[in-house]
Amino acid sequence: MRILIIGSGGREHALAWKLGQSPEKPEIFIAPGNGGTALEGANLPLSDTGDVEKIMEIVKERKIDLLIPAPELPLVNGVADACATAGVPCFGPKAAAARLEGSKSFAKELLRETGIPTADFAVFTDYGQARRYVENLPLPPVIKADGLASGKGVVVPENHKEALDALRSMLIDKSFGPAGEKVVIEETLQGREVSLLAFCGDGRIIPMPSAQDHKRAYDSDKGPNTGGMGAYSPAPVLPDKDLEDMAGRFLKPILAGMENRGCPFSGVLYAGLILTGQGPKVLEFNVRFGDPECQPLLMRCKGDILPLVAACAEGRLSKAPEPEWSPETAICVVMAARGYPGAYSKGMPVNGIAEAEASSPGKVKVFHAGTRCEGGEIKASGGRILGITALGEDLRAARNVAYAAAKNIRLPESFFRNDIGSKGISEYHGRSHP
Ligand code: AMP
Ligand code: GLY
Repeated sequence: MRILIIGSGGREHALAWKLGQSPEKPEIFIAPGNGGTALEGANLPLSDTGDVEKIMEIVKERKIDLLIPAPELPLVNGVADACATAGVPCFGPKAAAARLEGSKSFAKELLRETGIPTADFAVFTDYGQARRYVENLPLPPVIKADGLASGKGVVVPENHKEALDALRSMLIDKSFGPAGEKVVIEETLQGREVSLLAFCGDGRIIPMPSAQDHKRAYDSDKGPNTGGMGAYSPAPVLPDKDLEDMAGRFLKPILAGMENRGCPFSGVLYAGLILTGQGPKVLEFNVRFGDPECQPLLMRCKGDILPLVAACAEGRLSKAPEPEWSPETAICVVMAARGYPGAYSKGMPVNGIAEAEASSPGKVKVFHAGTRCEGGEIKASGGRILGITALGEDLRAARNVAYAAAKNIRLPESFFRNDIGSKGISEYHGRSHP
């Protein structure tokens, strides 16, 4: 079997690593991949992961049997539709179903229709109307660009002025291009966030254990939002015993709603939840694995994941084997380039990965994200550079293993958060957090 993974992050390295362990011994290609995926398979050039035509050229040339588009862009651009036409199984939804992530107003309207708890909202294209709406709200709301904006399209303002500035930037200055021509204005919710991911399709939902992302750049949730500076699984706020119930409440009605609209969903559905005083509410949907959440999740996944992924892609998830999860906790600490998520340093040599993995044999895997291999040397080439991922018998143990491993990495002009998992550890011990 020949598999092509699209993307270049830590998530893509984790997928290639996990699929590479399958007894089916698939041949794995990654486009464009990174310095780590090159060790798991063959990297192929792809300058734009949203270029469906180019992806389909590679699929044809390399006689690919299974396509795994890891990021949202190729899915929103219709790569699964192109695969359906070409008769190639694709792990991910068609464009009409990828709108759950590609259009925030579409997702919010479906949430409202299906009665799933979510923040109150309104949708605008006109700046004047949007401004009047915001001015009449007692508290500053969250402002979201409707379309894909590489994780930068959500503004959580401190005051009304910041909210109005965000509206102006999206609707008048068009700083997000077409993605910001429509905005969702949303009530600001308070609470702990947690991610619920599930394999979905063919009338079946297979929830994965919960995961916790760390979106802010610096310790104590300070600094700008990023793609994610670390993650762990399970999140104590969403224990395994509640997964089926939560999937039934938050994912099942959405899947039914999509089916009713004639655009059934298949692939990984990811609900970003916030646990408010009035109970859990949905913040957003993603139509793919999260990154870095994918790294601790796959670290915990036991056995062969290929039959499950292939069954999902072939529309026969109802007959797929249940995945098995390690009872251990996994944690991922992201090492990022100085300056990230703004303009960041590049080209630094990356050393010490083998030592980091040897620091706790079998318990640590260093996934590459923004790296490339240059004459046998690993160099930093992206904002998030490495995901140091570790297993331990509980969150505290996993965290200690990950941070001890991180000490071995020699990577100038980089930083990482020192508090990945800290909130979760105090939750284990019964202390509450705002
Ligand atoms: P999203 O891309 O929709 O997940 O938003 C990114 C982040 O913005 C979320 O993980 C939250 O931390 C924050 N956020 C989004 N919507 C809200 C909301 N209605 N209230 C409070 N925070 C929000
Ligand atoms: N870590 C959040 C995401 O992948 O969207």
